[in-house]
Amino acid sequence: MDDAITKDGSTAADTLVLVDIADRIQTIRINRPNKKNALTRDMYSAMAAALTAADDDPGVRATIITGTGDAFTAGNDLADFMNAPPSDPDSPVGHFLKAMVTARKPVIAAVNGVAVGIGTTMLLHCDLAYAGQSAVFQMPFVDLGLVPEAASSLLVPAMIGHRRAAELLMLGDRFSADTAADLGFVNKTVADADLQETARTAALALAAKAPEALRQTKALLKGSGEAVADRMHEEFKLFAQRLRSPELKESITAFMQKRKPDFSRFE
Ligand code: COA
Repeated sequence: MDDAITKDGSTAADTLVLVDIADRIQTIRINRPNKKNALTRDMYSAMAAALTAADDDPGVRATIITGTGDAFTAGNDLADFMNAPPSDPDSPVGHFLKAMVTARKPVIAAVNGVAVGIGTTMLLHCDLAYAGQSAVFQMPFVDLGLVPEAASSLLVPAMIGHRRAAELLMLGDRFSADTAADLGFVNKTVADADLQETARTAALALAAKAPEALRQTKALLKGSGEAVADRMHEEFKLFAQRLRSPELKESITAFMQKRKPDFSRFE
């Protein structure tokens, strides 16, 4: 049984994504540790709803996103890529990304372990991000027969230049927490045991600041967001085509069969 479904057949995104508010800080905890916190459609929807609710709730001043166990998130659920493809901006993943991009209040990531695919690209839309020493990052879109998402094809080269972006987005190299800090994906790396406290301290500091000045400052830092929205749109179109491609089918089948994909027959 898929653990996204409860015994009575209803979805259980409310347990797979835990949302809590305390001390004016909203915490969104991705909570599917037996699948390395891979994200299903229901989980994206729950995260989008939480971010939107935080923006509308005067009792929330900042959001922390983190994961349960040894994973931040292994990215999109790979079975969902085949069975429930996130094909357009009006999909649950599209809603989540829009909520991240348009969030008016600060969003802080506490990367507590493996951060694959959207686990890494969502950091590009966070205001602050911290990684535990054992976190590992990867954007293996090409290895899956896919293209980058979340405007990472625009934001990563802008951040680190084309050649280093090619290592991460074309070769799909894994990288460590220290490299993530060097490249700018996270603000800093801390001992795993200190991660949650580091994120909480930053969130509390932001929560104590003048809220309107903070929202306006975030809006100024982010700018109009037009280029990001345009690129996401372009990426979504290609991503949807790729999800129907034989290359994607080969990569997912290989993952299920616990083998390396073989792309040798493709042109
Ligand atoms: N979607 C669905 N299930 C996933 C998953 C994903 N993205 N990532 C991990 N899982 C599942 C595995 O299938 C496994 O399930 P099982 O115990 O029922 O066999 C379980 O989570 C544990 O994963 P495992 O691969 O055994 O853990 P690991 O520590 O050896 O490796 C990862 C962790 C994240 C490096 C590895 O699972 C991985 O590469 N996952 C795919 C990541 C990915 O490509 N995401 C999409 C990005 S666009």
